[in-house]
Amino acid sequence: KDQQASPVYVASIDQGTSSSRCIVFGKDGSIVAEHQIEHEQFYPRPGCVEHDAEEIWRNVEMCVKSALNIAGLGAPDLAAVGITNQRESTLVWDRNTGTPLHPLIVWNDVRTESICRDLKANGGADRFRGRTGLPISPYFSATKLMWLLDNVAGLRELAEKGDALFGTMDSWLMWKLTGGRMHITDVTNASRTNLMSLEGLHWDKSILQELGIPACMLPSIVSSSEVYCVADNPDNVLNGVRVAGILGDQQAALFGQICFREGQTKCTYGTGSFILMNTGERVVPSTNGLLSTVGFKLGEQACVYALEGSIAYAGSTVQWLRDNLEMIKSASEIEALARTVEDNGGVFFVPAFAGLLAPHWRGDARGLMCGLTAYNTKAHVVRAVLESTAFQVQEVLGAMNQDSGVEAVSLKVDGGMTANALLMQFQADLLGVQVLRPKMSETTALGAAFAAGLAVGVWEDIDDLSKTWALGQEYEATMAAEKRDMLLWNWLRAVERSLGWEV
Ligand code: G3P
Repeated sequence: KDQQASPVYVASIDQGTSSSRCIVFGKDGSIVAEHQIEHEQFYPRPGCVEHDAEEIWRNVEMCVKSALNIAGLGAPDLAAVGITNQRESTLVWDRNTGTPLHPLIVWNDVRTESICRDLKANGGADRFRGRTGLPISPYFSATKLMWLLDNVAGLRELAEKGDALFGTMDSWLMWKLTGGRMHITDVTNASRTNLMSLEGLHWDKSILQELGIPACMLPSIVSSSEVYCVADNPDNVLNGVRVAGILGDQQAALFGQICFREGQTKCTYGTGSFILMNTGERVVPSTNGLLSTVGFKLGEQACVYALEGSIAYAGSTVQWLRDNLEMIKSASEIEALARTVEDNGGVFFVPAFAGLLAPHWRGDARGLMCGLTAYNTKAHVVRAVLESTAFQVQEVLGAMNQDSGVEAVSLKVDGGMTANALLMQFQADLLGVQVLRPKMSETTALGAAFAAGLAVGVWEDIDDLSKTWALGQEYEATMAAEKRDMLLWNWLRAVERSLGWEV
Protein backbone atom coordinates (compact mmCIF):
# COMPACT_ATOMS: atom_id res chain seq x y z
CA LYS A 1 0.00 0.00 0.00
CA ASP A 2 1.19 3.47 -0.88
CA GLN A 3 0.69 5.86 2.03
CA GLN A 4 1.34 8.91 -0.16
CA ALA A 5 -1.38 8.30 -2.74
CA SER A 6 -5.05 8.86 -1.89
CA PRO A 7 -6.62 5.75 -0.40
CA VAL A 8 -8.21 3.34 -2.87
CA TYR A 9 -9.62 0.74 -0.52
CA VAL A 10 -13.33 0.77 0.25
CA ALA A 11 -14.89 -1.09 3.18
CA SER A 12 -18.37 -2.48 3.07
CA ILE A 13 -20.44 -3.34 6.12
CA ASP A 14 -23.03 -6.00 5.22
CA GLN A 15 -25.50 -6.37 8.07
CA GLY A 16 -27.64 -9.36 7.07
CA THR A 17 -30.37 -11.51 8.60
CA SER A 18 -28.10 -14.27 9.88
CA SER A 19 -24.75 -12.53 10.16
CA SER A 20 -22.83 -9.31 9.86
CA ARG A 21 -19.64 -8.90 7.95
CA CYS A 22 -17.11 -6.45 6.73
CA ILE A 23 -15.36 -6.82 3.39
CA VAL A 24 -12.52 -4.57 2.23
CA PHE A 25 -12.40 -4.13 -1.55
CA GLY A 26 -9.64 -2.92 -3.83
CA LYS A 27 -10.21 -0.60 -6.81
CA ASP A 28 -10.53 -3.56 -9.18
CA GLY A 29 -13.48 -4.84 -7.12
CA SER A 30 -11.49 -7.73 -5.66
CA ILE A 31 -11.72 -8.76 -2.01
CA VAL A 32 -8.71 -7.74 0.09
CA ALA A 33 -9.99 -9.07 3.42
CA GLU A 34 -13.22 -10.04 5.11
CA HIS A 35 -14.62 -11.07 8.46
CA GLN A 36 -18.07 -12.41 9.32
CA ILE A 37 -19.89 -13.08 12.63
CA GLU A 38 -23.28 -14.76 13.03
CA HIS A 39 -25.75 -13.35 15.54
CA GLU A 40 -28.39 -15.09 17.57
CA GLN A 41 -31.93 -15.55 16.24
CA PHE A 42 -34.61 -15.24 18.92
CA TYR A 43 -38.01 -16.89 18.41
CA PRO A 44 -40.05 -15.71 21.44
CA ARG A 45 -43.38 -17.04 20.05
CA PRO A 46 -44.47 -18.84 16.89
CA GLY A 47 -44.21 -16.40 13.99
CA CYS A 48 -41.94 -13.99 15.91
CA VAL A 49 -38.29 -13.42 14.99
CA GLU A 50 -36.08 -10.96 16.86
CA HIS A 51 -32.44 -9.83 16.96
CA ASP A 52 -30.46 -8.00 19.62
CA ALA A 53 -29.43 -4.70 18.00
CA GLU A 54 -26.62 -4.13 20.51
CA GLU A 55 -25.17 -7.58 19.74
CA ILE A 56 -25.31 -6.73 16.04
CA TRP A 57 -23.46 -3.45 16.60
CA ARG A 58 -20.75 -5.22 18.63
CA ASN A 59 -20.39 -7.79 15.85
CA VAL A 60 -20.16 -5.09 13.19
CA GLU A 61 -17.39 -3.34 15.12
CA MET A 62 -15.53 -6.63 15.55
CA CYS A 63 -15.91 -7.49 11.85
CA VAL A 64 -14.52 -4.13 10.76
CA LYS A 65 -11.58 -4.41 13.18
CA SER A 66 -10.74 -7.94 12.08
CA ALA A 67 -11.08 -7.26 8.35
CA LEU A 68 -8.78 -4.24 8.63
CA ASN A 69 -6.31 -6.26 10.69
CA ILE A 70 -6.26 -9.07 8.15
CA ALA A 71 -5.71 -6.54 5.35
CA GLY A 72 -2.99 -4.78 7.35
CA LEU A 73 -4.87 -1.50 6.87
CA GLY A 74 -6.08 1.26 9.14
CA ALA A 75 -8.84 3.86 8.90
CA PRO A 76 -6.63 6.33 6.92
CA ASP A 77 -6.23 3.70 4.18
CA LEU A 78 -9.97 3.66 3.48
CA ALA A 79 -11.37 6.05 0.90
CA ALA A 80 -14.88 5.43 2.21
CA VAL A 81 -17.20 2.94 3.83
CA GLY A 82 -20.56 1.74 2.54
CA ILE A 83 -23.42 0.12 4.43
CA THR A 84 -25.83 -2.52 3.23
CA ASN A 85 -28.39 -4.20 5.44
CA GLN A 86 -31.29 -6.57 5.97
CA ARG A 87 -34.27 -4.46 4.98
CA GLU A 88 -37.62 -3.80 6.70
CA SER A 89 -36.42 -5.10 10.12
CA THR A 90 -37.66 -2.52 12.58
CA LEU A 91 -35.96 -0.94 15.59
CA VAL A 92 -36.94 1.80 18.04
CA TRP A 93 -34.46 3.40 20.38
CA ASP A 94 -34.19 6.21 22.91
CA ARG A 95 -32.80 9.40 21.37
CA ASN A 96 -31.16 10.45 24.63
CA THR A 97 -29.58 7.22 25.83
CA GLY A 98 -29.24 5.43 22.48
CA THR A 99 -30.75 2.31 24.06
CA PRO A 100 -33.06 0.07 22.00
CA LEU A 101 -36.57 0.10 23.47
CA HIS A 102 -37.42 -3.38 22.16
CA PRO A 103 -35.49 -6.11 20.32
CA LEU A 104 -35.28 -5.68 16.53
CA ILE A 105 -38.40 -7.12 14.87
CA VAL A 106 -37.02 -9.00 11.88
CA TRP A 107 -38.49 -8.71 8.37
CA ASN A 108 -39.80 -12.29 8.34
CA ASP A 109 -41.66 -11.87 11.64
CA VAL A 110 -45.43 -12.18 11.07
CA ARG A 111 -46.76 -10.97 14.45
CA THR A 112 -48.63 -8.14 12.72
CA GLU A 113 -50.85 -10.44 10.64
CA SER A 114 -53.96 -9.30 12.55
CA ILE A 115 -53.06 -5.60 12.19
CA CYS A 116 -52.74 -6.26 8.45
CA ARG A 117 -56.08 -8.06 8.37
CA ASP A 118 -57.77 -5.02 9.94
CA LEU A 119 -56.06 -2.62 7.54
CA LYS A 120 -57.07 -4.74 4.55
CA ALA A 121 -60.68 -4.88 5.77
CA ASN A 122 -60.73 -1.12 5.43
CA GLY A 123 -59.57 -0.38 1.89
CA GLY A 124 -58.12 -3.68 0.68
CA ALA A 125 -54.58 -5.09 0.52
CA ASP A 126 -53.57 -2.49 -2.04
CA ARG A 127 -54.80 0.61 -0.22
CA PHE A 128 -51.28 2.11 -0.14
CA ARG A 129 -49.89 0.48 -3.29
CA GLY A 130 -50.56 3.49 -5.52
CA ARG A 131 -48.46 5.66 -3.21
CA THR A 132 -45.77 3.31 -1.86
CA GLY A 133 -45.63 0.49 -4.42
CA LEU A 134 -46.30 -2.10 -1.69
CA PRO A 135 -49.26 -4.19 -0.53
CA ILE A 136 -50.29 -4.44 3.13
CA SER A 137 -48.16 -7.24 4.62
CA PRO A 138 -46.39 -7.96 7.93
CA TYR A 139 -43.17 -8.01 5.82
CA PHE A 140 -42.82 -4.22 5.71
CA SER A 141 -41.82 -1.92 8.58
CA ALA A 142 -45.08 0.07 8.88
CA THR A 143 -47.15 -2.49 10.78
CA LYS A 144 -44.15 -3.60 12.85
CA LEU A 145 -43.78 0.00 14.01
CA MET A 146 -47.53 0.23 14.72
CA TRP A 147 -47.25 -2.92 16.83
CA LEU A 148 -44.33 -1.44 18.81
CA LEU A 149 -46.17 1.84 19.40
CA ASP A 150 -49.15 -0.12 20.74
CA ASN A 151 -47.27 -2.72 22.77
CA VAL A 152 -44.15 -1.15 24.28
CA ALA A 153 -45.19 0.66 27.45
CA GLY A 154 -44.61 4.42 27.20
CA LEU A 155 -43.25 4.29 23.63
CA ARG A 156 -46.01 6.35 22.01
CA GLU A 157 -45.60 9.19 24.53
CA LEU A 158 -41.81 9.14 24.10
CA ALA A 159 -42.19 9.14 20.31
CA GLU A 160 -44.63 12.04 20.34
CA LYS A 161 -42.18 14.08 22.43
CA GLY A 162 -39.46 13.31 19.85
CA ASP A 163 -37.49 11.13 22.29
CA ALA A 164 -37.95 7.76 20.56
CA LEU A 165 -36.54 7.08 17.11
CA PHE A 166 -37.41 4.51 14.47
CA GLY A 167 -34.97 3.04 11.99
CA THR A 168 -34.01 0.05 9.89
CA MET A 169 -30.52 -1.34 10.43
CA ASP A 170 -28.86 1.24 8.17
CA SER A 171 -30.21 4.00 10.44
CA TRP A 172 -29.04 2.16 13.55
CA LEU A 173 -25.51 1.68 12.19
CA MET A 174 -25.29 5.32 11.06
CA TRP A 175 -26.47 6.40 14.52
CA LYS A 176 -23.77 4.27 16.13
CA LEU A 177 -21.01 5.30 13.71
CA THR A 178 -21.69 8.97 14.41
CA GLY A 179 -22.08 8.62 18.15
CA GLY A 180 -25.80 9.50 17.89
CA ARG A 181 -25.36 12.54 15.66
CA MET A 182 -27.10 11.30 12.50
CA HIS A 183 -30.53 9.80 12.06
CA ILE A 184 -30.84 9.00 8.35
CA THR A 185 -31.95 6.22 6.00
CA ASP A 186 -31.42 5.87 2.27
CA VAL A 187 -34.21 5.84 -0.32
CA THR A 188 -33.97 2.10 -0.93
CA ASN A 189 -34.49 1.26 2.74
CA ALA A 190 -37.19 3.91 3.10
CA SER A 191 -39.02 2.37 0.12
CA ARG A 192 -39.48 -0.84 2.16
CA THR A 193 -41.38 0.71 5.03
CA ASN A 194 -44.74 1.25 3.25
CA LEU A 195 -44.50 4.84 4.53
CA MET A 196 -42.58 6.54 1.70
CA SER A 197 -44.06 8.13 -1.40
CA LEU A 198 -42.36 6.27 -4.23
CA GLU A 199 -42.60 9.17 -6.67
CA GLY A 200 -41.85 11.97 -4.20
CA LEU A 201 -39.19 10.09 -2.15
CA HIS A 202 -40.50 11.62 1.10
CA TRP A 203 -42.52 10.24 4.01
CA ASP A 204 -46.20 10.18 3.06
CA LYS A 205 -47.92 12.36 5.66
CA SER A 206 -51.38 10.97 5.00
CA ILE A 207 -50.23 7.37 5.55
CA LEU A 208 -48.44 8.35 8.77
CA GLN A 209 -51.66 9.95 9.93
CA GLU A 210 -53.81 6.97 8.94
CA LEU A 211 -51.50 4.62 10.84
CA GLY A 212 -50.92 6.87 13.85
CA ILE A 213 -47.14 7.07 13.41
CA PRO A 214 -45.49 10.28 14.74
CA ALA A 215 -43.42 11.79 11.90
CA CYS A 216 -40.75 13.06 14.30
CA MET A 217 -39.55 9.51 15.03
CA LEU A 218 -38.61 8.85 11.37
CA PRO A 219 -35.10 9.33 9.94
CA SER A 220 -34.32 11.82 7.16
CA ILE A 221 -34.26 10.23 3.72
CA VAL A 222 -30.98 10.54 1.78
CA SER A 223 -29.65 9.19 -1.54
CA SER A 224 -27.79 5.87 -1.82
CA SER A 225 -24.46 7.44 -2.76
CA GLU A 226 -23.12 10.68 -1.28
CA VAL A 227 -20.80 11.63 1.56
CA TYR A 228 -23.21 11.58 4.49
CA CYS A 229 -20.63 12.25 7.17
CA VAL A 230 -17.22 11.41 8.51
CA ALA A 231 -17.56 8.68 11.15
CA ASP A 232 -16.90 10.54 14.38
CA ASN A 233 -17.28 8.07 17.16
CA PRO A 234 -13.80 8.03 18.75
CA ASP A 235 -14.47 4.56 20.18
CA ASN A 236 -14.91 3.12 16.72
CA VAL A 237 -12.18 1.78 14.47
CA LEU A 238 -13.68 3.65 11.48
CA ASN A 239 -13.34 7.02 13.19
CA GLY A 240 -12.37 9.60 10.54
CA VAL A 241 -13.58 7.57 7.53
CA ARG A 242 -16.22 8.99 5.16
CA VAL A 243 -19.50 7.08 5.14
CA ALA A 244 -20.68 7.47 1.56
CA GLY A 245 -23.02 4.66 0.49
CA ILE A 246 -26.17 3.04 1.86
CA LEU A 247 -28.33 0.47 0.06
CA GLY A 248 -30.76 -2.17 1.29
CA ASP A 249 -29.08 -5.52 0.70
CA GLN A 250 -31.13 -6.61 -2.32
CA GLN A 251 -30.69 -3.26 -4.02
CA ALA A 252 -26.98 -3.47 -3.22
CA ALA A 253 -26.83 -6.82 -5.01
CA LEU A 254 -28.64 -5.28 -8.02
CA PHE A 255 -25.99 -2.56 -8.06
CA GLY A 256 -23.11 -4.98 -7.46
CA GLN A 257 -24.37 -7.15 -10.34
CA ILE A 258 -24.06 -4.09 -12.60
CA CYS A 259 -27.79 -4.10 -13.38
CA PHE A 260 -27.62 -0.42 -14.30
CA ARG A 261 -29.84 -0.58 -17.36
CA GLU A 262 -33.57 -1.01 -17.68
CA GLY A 263 -34.59 -4.66 -17.96
CA GLN A 264 -31.47 -6.05 -16.25
CA THR A 265 -32.40 -8.54 -13.55
CA LYS A 266 -30.71 -10.34 -10.68
CA CYS A 267 -31.69 -12.99 -8.16
CA THR A 268 -29.96 -13.37 -4.80
CA TYR A 269 -30.34 -16.74 -3.10
CA GLY A 270 -29.86 -15.99 0.62
CA THR A 271 -32.05 -16.68 3.66
CA GLY A 272 -34.86 -15.80 1.28
CA SER A 273 -34.63 -15.17 -2.45
CA PHE A 274 -35.06 -11.75 -3.96
CA ILE A 275 -35.43 -11.02 -7.67
CA LEU A 276 -35.06 -7.40 -8.77
CA MET A 277 -35.44 -5.93 -12.25
CA ASN A 278 -34.20 -2.44 -13.05
CA THR A 279 -37.15 -0.48 -14.52
CA GLY A 280 -35.24 2.74 -15.18
CA GLU A 281 -36.50 6.13 -14.12
CA ARG A 282 -40.15 5.08 -14.09
CA VAL A 283 -42.18 3.37 -11.41
CA VAL A 284 -43.71 0.27 -12.99
CA PRO A 285 -46.90 -0.64 -11.16
CA SER A 286 -47.40 -4.36 -10.67
CA THR A 287 -50.60 -6.17 -11.49
CA ASN A 288 -49.03 -9.58 -10.91
CA GLY A 289 -48.12 -9.57 -7.24
CA LEU A 290 -44.71 -7.86 -7.37
CA LEU A 291 -43.45 -4.80 -5.53
CA SER A 292 -42.54 -1.47 -7.06
CA THR A 293 -39.53 -0.22 -5.17
CA VAL A 294 -36.48 2.03 -5.38
CA GLY A 295 -33.46 0.45 -7.13
CA PHE A 296 -30.89 3.11 -6.26
CA LYS A 297 -30.37 6.84 -6.32
CA LEU A 298 -26.88 8.19 -6.90
CA GLY A 299 -26.57 11.59 -5.23
CA GLU A 300 -28.51 14.24 -7.16
CA GLN A 301 -29.14 11.98 -10.16
CA ALA A 302 -32.64 10.75 -11.00
CA CYS A 303 -33.96 7.86 -8.96
CA VAL A 304 -33.81 4.43 -10.62
CA TYR A 305 -36.71 2.14 -9.77
CA ALA A 306 -37.12 -1.63 -9.72
CA LEU A 307 -39.72 -4.35 -9.70
CA GLU A 308 -39.12 -6.92 -6.98
CA GLY A 309 -40.35 -10.40 -6.19
CA SER A 310 -39.54 -11.43 -2.62
CA ILE A 311 -39.51 -15.04 -1.43
CA ALA A 312 -39.24 -15.56 2.32
CA TYR A 313 -37.82 -19.10 2.51
CA ALA A 314 -35.02 -20.24 0.20
CA GLY A 315 -31.61 -20.98 1.78
CA SER A 316 -33.33 -21.21 5.15
CA THR A 317 -35.13 -24.39 3.95
CA VAL A 318 -31.72 -26.06 3.76
CA GLN A 319 -31.02 -24.99 7.35
CA TRP A 320 -34.42 -26.42 8.28
CA LEU A 321 -33.50 -29.77 6.69
CA ARG A 322 -30.26 -29.72 8.66
CA ASP A 323 -31.38 -28.39 12.06
CA ASN A 324 -35.03 -29.40 12.42
CA LEU A 325 -35.34 -32.59 10.34
CA GLU A 326 -31.66 -33.58 10.72
CA MET A 327 -31.68 -35.07 7.22
CA ILE A 328 -28.27 -33.65 6.40
CA LYS A 329 -25.32 -32.77 8.63
CA SER A 330 -24.15 -29.74 6.72
CA ALA A 331 -25.65 -27.57 3.99
CA SER A 332 -22.92 -28.63 1.58
CA GLU A 333 -24.19 -32.25 1.65
CA ILE A 334 -27.47 -31.38 0.00
CA GLU A 335 -26.29 -31.41 -3.61
CA ALA A 336 -24.61 -34.82 -3.41
CA LEU A 337 -27.66 -36.35 -1.73
CA ALA A 338 -30.09 -34.79 -4.21
CA ARG A 339 -27.97 -36.12 -7.09
CA THR A 340 -28.35 -39.73 -5.90
CA VAL A 341 -31.83 -39.70 -7.48
CA GLU A 342 -32.76 -38.87 -11.06
CA ASP A 343 -35.53 -36.44 -10.18
CA ASN A 344 -37.91 -35.47 -7.38
CA GLY A 345 -39.79 -38.80 -7.68
CA GLY A 346 -43.10 -36.90 -7.81
CA VAL A 347 -42.54 -35.03 -4.52
CA PHE A 348 -43.30 -31.31 -4.29
CA PHE A 349 -42.57 -29.12 -1.31
CA VAL A 350 -44.03 -25.65 -0.68
CA PRO A 351 -42.03 -23.82 2.04
CA ALA A 352 -44.86 -21.49 3.12
CA PHE A 353 -43.62 -21.55 6.72
CA ALA A 354 -44.93 -18.05 7.40
CA GLY A 355 -47.31 -17.62 4.49
CA LEU A 356 -46.26 -16.90 0.93
CA LEU A 357 -44.86 -13.58 -0.31
CA ALA A 358 -44.56 -12.83 -4.06
CA PRO A 359 -46.50 -13.34 -6.19
CA HIS A 360 -49.24 -14.76 -3.92
CA TRP A 361 -49.12 -12.59 -0.75
CA ARG A 362 -51.07 -15.12 1.29
CA GLY A 363 -50.50 -14.94 5.03
CA ASP A 364 -52.76 -17.99 5.42
CA ALA A 365 -50.51 -20.35 3.44
CA ARG A 366 -48.56 -23.00 5.35
CA GLY A 367 -45.83 -25.43 4.35
CA LEU A 368 -46.68 -28.75 2.75
CA MET A 369 -45.13 -31.72 1.02
CA CYS A 370 -47.26 -33.65 -1.44
CA GLY A 371 -47.09 -36.34 -4.09
CA LEU A 372 -45.44 -38.81 -1.68
CA THR A 373 -45.48 -42.55 -2.40
CA ALA A 374 -43.82 -45.50 -0.66
CA TYR A 375 -41.18 -45.38 -3.40
CA ASN A 376 -39.77 -42.08 -2.12
CA THR A 377 -36.61 -41.78 -0.11
CA LYS A 378 -34.88 -39.05 1.87
CA ALA A 379 -33.09 -38.06 -1.32
CA HIS A 380 -36.39 -37.23 -3.07
CA VAL A 381 -37.49 -35.14 -0.10
CA VAL A 382 -34.21 -33.25 -0.06
CA ARG A 383 -34.40 -32.73 -3.81
CA ALA A 384 -37.96 -31.42 -3.55
CA VAL A 385 -36.85 -28.94 -0.89
CA LEU A 386 -34.04 -27.72 -3.13
CA GLU A 387 -36.34 -27.46 -6.15
CA SER A 388 -38.88 -25.38 -4.21
CA THR A 389 -36.55 -22.38 -4.42
CA ALA A 390 -36.27 -22.68 -8.21
CA PHE A 391 -40.05 -23.02 -8.62
CA GLN A 392 -40.65 -19.88 -6.57
CA VAL A 393 -38.09 -17.91 -8.56
CA GLN A 394 -39.69 -19.13 -11.79
CA GLU A 395 -43.10 -17.87 -10.68
CA VAL A 396 -41.68 -14.46 -9.80
CA LEU A 397 -39.79 -14.09 -13.06
CA GLY A 398 -42.94 -14.98 -14.99
CA ALA A 399 -44.82 -12.22 -13.14
CA MET A 400 -41.97 -9.83 -13.84
CA ASN A 401 -42.06 -10.51 -17.56
CA GLN A 402 -45.78 -9.78 -17.57
CA ASP A 403 -45.55 -6.59 -15.49
CA SER A 404 -42.62 -5.13 -17.40
CA GLY A 405 -43.59 -6.37 -20.85
CA VAL A 406 -39.95 -7.42 -21.25
CA GLU A 407 -39.02 -11.10 -21.63
CA ALA A 408 -35.84 -11.62 -19.61
CA VAL A 409 -33.20 -13.39 -21.72
CA SER A 410 -30.89 -14.15 -18.84
CA LEU A 411 -30.80 -13.96 -15.07
CA LYS A 412 -27.74 -12.89 -13.07
CA VAL A 413 -27.53 -14.85 -9.83
CA ASP A 414 -25.59 -14.58 -6.57
CA GLY A 415 -25.75 -15.71 -2.95
CA GLY A 416 -24.86 -18.90 -1.09
CA MET A 417 -27.15 -21.31 -2.94
CA THR A 418 -25.60 -20.48 -6.31
CA ALA A 419 -22.71 -22.78 -5.37
CA ASN A 420 -25.22 -25.62 -5.91
CA ALA A 421 -24.81 -26.54 -9.57
CA LEU A 422 -27.80 -28.91 -9.52
CA LEU A 423 -30.08 -26.10 -8.36
CA MET A 424 -28.67 -23.61 -10.86
CA GLN A 425 -29.12 -26.06 -13.78
CA PHE A 426 -32.69 -26.79 -12.65
CA GLN A 427 -33.30 -23.05 -12.39
CA ALA A 428 -32.13 -22.46 -15.98
CA ASP A 429 -34.29 -25.40 -17.14
CA LEU A 430 -37.41 -24.08 -15.42
CA LEU A 431 -36.90 -20.52 -16.63
CA GLY A 432 -35.88 -21.45 -20.15
CA VAL A 433 -33.22 -18.71 -20.04
CA GLN A 434 -29.49 -18.52 -19.30
CA VAL A 435 -28.47 -18.31 -15.65
CA LEU A 436 -25.25 -16.33 -15.19
CA ARG A 437 -23.14 -16.48 -12.05
CA PRO A 438 -20.36 -13.88 -11.73
CA LYS A 439 -16.84 -14.78 -10.60
CA MET A 440 -17.22 -12.47 -7.64
CA SER A 441 -20.12 -13.83 -5.65
CA GLU A 442 -20.14 -11.18 -2.86
CA THR A 443 -22.22 -8.82 -4.93
CA THR A 444 -24.23 -7.41 -2.00
CA ALA A 445 -21.19 -6.09 -0.15
CA LEU A 446 -19.66 -5.04 -3.47
CA GLY A 447 -22.75 -2.97 -4.36
CA ALA A 448 -22.46 -0.93 -1.16
CA ALA A 449 -18.72 -0.47 -1.73
CA PHE A 450 -19.45 0.72 -5.28
CA ALA A 451 -22.00 3.26 -4.01
CA ALA A 452 -19.52 4.61 -1.43
CA GLY A 453 -16.53 4.56 -3.80
CA LEU A 454 -18.47 6.39 -6.52
CA ALA A 455 -19.32 9.21 -4.12
CA VAL A 456 -15.66 9.82 -3.26
CA GLY A 457 -14.16 9.27 -6.72
CA VAL A 458 -12.55 5.83 -6.30
CA TRP A 459 -14.61 4.94 -9.36
CA GLU A 460 -15.39 7.66 -11.92
CA ASP A 461 -18.81 6.52 -13.08
CA ILE A 462 -20.92 3.44 -13.63
CA ASP A 463 -19.01 2.53 -16.80
CA ASP A 464 -15.92 2.27 -14.65
CA LEU A 465 -17.81 -0.16 -12.38
CA SER A 466 -19.09 -2.24 -15.29
CA LYS A 467 -15.54 -3.31 -16.10
CA THR A 468 -15.29 -5.23 -12.83
CA TRP A 469 -18.07 -7.78 -13.66
CA ALA A 470 -16.73 -11.12 -14.92
CA LEU A 471 -18.66 -14.28 -15.72
CA GLY A 472 -17.94 -17.25 -13.47
CA GLN A 473 -20.39 -19.90 -14.62
CA GLU A 474 -23.16 -20.06 -17.20
CA TYR A 475 -26.11 -22.49 -17.16
CA GLU A 476 -28.12 -23.12 -20.35
CA ALA A 477 -31.69 -24.41 -20.37
CA THR A 478 -31.78 -27.98 -21.72
CA MET A 479 -35.01 -29.50 -20.34
CA ALA A 480 -37.71 -30.59 -22.80
CA ALA A 481 -40.71 -28.24 -22.82
CA GLU A 482 -43.26 -30.99 -21.93
CA LYS A 483 -41.30 -32.03 -18.88
CA ARG A 484 -40.98 -28.45 -17.74
CA ASP A 485 -44.67 -27.74 -18.23
CA MET A 486 -45.62 -30.82 -16.25
CA LEU A 487 -43.33 -29.80 -13.36
CA LEU A 488 -44.73 -26.26 -13.29
CA TRP A 489 -48.32 -27.53 -13.42
CA ASN A 490 -47.71 -29.82 -10.45
CA TRP A 491 -45.96 -27.04 -8.54
CA LEU A 492 -48.96 -24.74 -8.97
CA ARG A 493 -51.31 -27.48 -7.77
CA ALA A 494 -49.13 -27.89 -4.67
CA VAL A 495 -49.18 -24.12 -4.04
CA GLU A 496 -52.99 -24.10 -4.27
CA ARG A 497 -53.17 -26.78 -1.61
CA SER A 498 -50.91 -24.79 0.73
CA LEU A 499 -53.39 -21.88 0.86
CA GLY A 500 -56.21 -21.23 3.31
CA TRP A 501 -54.90 -22.53 6.64
CA GLU A 502 -56.41 -20.82 9.67
CA VAL A 503 -53.78 -18.76 11.50
O1 G3P B 1 -36.08 -8.09 2.64
C1 G3P B 1 -35.27 -8.87 3.47
C2 G3P B 1 -33.87 -8.95 2.94
O2 G3P B 1 -33.33 -7.67 2.84
C3 G3P B 1 -33.04 -9.88 3.78
O3 G3P B 1 -31.95 -10.31 3.07
O4 G3P B 1 -29.90 -11.59 2.68
O5 G3P B 1 -30.34 -10.70 4.95
O6 G3P B 1 -31.69 -12.58 4.07
P1 G3P B 1 -30.89 -11.37 3.73
